Amino acid sequence: MDKKIIWLDSVDSTNSYSIKNYHALNNFTLVCANHQTHGKGRREHTWYSPKNKNLYASFILKDIQIDPLKMLMASSLALLNILRHFSNNDKFKIKWPNDIFFDNKKIAGILAESYICEGKIEGVVIGIGLNVNMTEAELKPIEKPATSLLITTGNEYNIKEISTILYHDLIEFTNQAQVLKNSYIYEKWKSENFIIGKQIEILKDDKTCIHGKVVDIKESGSLYVFDDNGNFHTFDSGDVTIISF
Ligand code: BTN
Repeated sequence: MDKKIIWLDSVDSTNSYSIKNYHALNNFTLVCANHQTHGKGRREHTWYSPKNKNLYASFILKDIQIDPLKMLMASSLALLNILRHFSNNDKFKIKWPNDIFFDNKKIAGILAESYICEGKIEGVVIGIGLNVNMTEAELKPIEKPATSLLITTGNEYNIKEISTILYHDLIEFTNQAQVLKNSYIYEKWKSENFIIGKQIEILKDDKTCIHGKVVDIKESGSLYVFDDNGNFHTFDSGDVTIISF
């Protein structure tokens, strides 16, 4: 199975590489790199990718039988599973849409990109960035509160070993998502999301800042928010800032 993990020394972005080489790569390949020169985050952000410090990986899913969104939810659960494998700590939680947080600090993020051919989604590349061995000083270039496995558990990790565990978890969770064609993955993903009931701030249409309370996250992935004036809003994506717990 391990032959489906490909290691690159340096690449612009493991997601870009996977999309560029989509046809040459098999279903269920995990493309990893020691270093990314143009690591991509969601919403056009860059993903800080210093050499040999963290896990930068892209999981290629072809021939998917179900909604790609469920595969994304399954990938967040796989990532959460691996973090809890290293530290059985319930402080690791999913923050909508697919970040993993520890004590209100981000430890991992996911960027899913579709491979589209003739207007049809042929496959999905699930890009995963996990902060592994970065110290507090090394995290300084990241603008928003961030943490790493080293800081949360006190131990250093072998990044290649993490990639192998992640690979097996990704296969298991995405298989589950395909086999259990019901709401199981969604319910589990929602129950691990910690922002329901929280006061938040989120940008609407990239311009108006909405303050309000998260009331639900639907199976479609949409966030339901009541603002402080009692108006209802839905969001399909966005950056949430938590105001109070
Ligand atoms: C986010 O939270 O904004 C998503 C971050 C995703 C980063 C990973 S690192 C591996 C893969 N390649 C990229 O260029 N991005 C994703």
